[in-house]
Amino acid sequence: MSAEGAATERFRLDGRVAVVTGACGRLGPVWVEALLDAGARVAALDLPDVPVPPALQRLLERHGDALRLYHADVRVRETLEAARERCETELGPVRILVNNAGIDQPPGPAQTWTLDQVPARQFHDVLAVNVTGAFQAAQVFGAGMVAAGDGAIVNIGSLYATVSPDARLYEHLDLDPPFLKPPAYGASKSALLGLTRYLAAHWGPHGVRVNSLSPGGVRGGQDPQFREKFEARVPLGRMAEPADLGGPLVFLASPAASYVNGIDLRVDGGYAVW
Ligand SMILES: NC(=O)c1ccc[n+]([C@@H]2O[C@H](COP(=O)([O-])OP(=O)(O)OC[C@H]3O[C@@H](n4cnc5c(N)ncnc54)[C@H](O)[C@@H]3O)[C@@H](O)[C@H]2O)c1
Repeated sequence: MSAEGAATERFRLDGRVAVVTGACGRLGPVWVEALLDAGARVAALDLPDVPVPPALQRLLERHGDALRLYHADVRVRETLEAARERCETELGPVRILVNNAGIDQPPGPAQTWTLDQVPARQFHDVLAVNVTGAFQAAQVFGAGMVAAGDGAIVNIGSLYATVSPDARLYEHLDLDPPFLKPPAYGASKSALLGLTRYLAAHWGPHGVRVNSLSPGGVRGGQDPQFREKFEARVPLGRMAEPADLGGPLVFLASPAASYVNGIDLRVDGGYAVW
């Protein structure tokens, strides 16, 4: 095998079982598809009562036994343990965890507060999913990896773990009070990067690598003015497309990253360089 071929082979995930939390949102199916394409079997986890998006439905139909959907709330440890049991029985022992479940603004009435009035409850609810939930999923799925001396955890962070949201991106919305990207969101993602380093230090000696992948803004239903202002700040001149994200995930999850531990891989088109 050529040196190039050998390197390429190291991106394969054949025979590995991966768990993706929050799999029924916008990015969940992107991660799930990338892992399946690399050869992994995948357990997609999300809350009960969340509709299965068409992109995930198509993957469920196409990949049959290699993809399962289980209910689990990352805030409730027993639901994660129940999902792990089903996953181990139906797919095999978990060696990859993608901590993707996350909330930006908790469900509820539209924002009616100024920064000094943001309710502590709202702040707490974001941290409960984005940080404590990720920690709990790492506990439940990481223990088996540590025991086996083999595993990779990828925590999905955000550009806003590194830089603050720019309030000027939202000025054109002309709302009173002005729109606030929830302060807890960036705080939670920064905390997730800290947790990543902690777990990388503690579980690295046991053969489990822990890294984060931080997407920049992903093109979705943003209004044209927001998009124009956002893209003007990105050296690559555009928002991320889903296709930009799968490769970096597979890299971190695979033997191609066998000496990569404790980093944050920003996939932001260079937004944070200036
Ligand atoms: N979309 C982006 O532009 C973007 C950019 C940077 C980072 N991210 C991060 O990527 C991840 C996915 O983002 P998305 O755009 O798909 O979000 P999304 O809101 O579309 O999906 C999030 C999913 O998480 C699930 N979820 C929420 N609370 C949960 C809980 N307690 N337990 C289990 N599942 C729960 C939701 O049901 C939903 O399916 C998040 O961590 C987000 O912060 C997204």
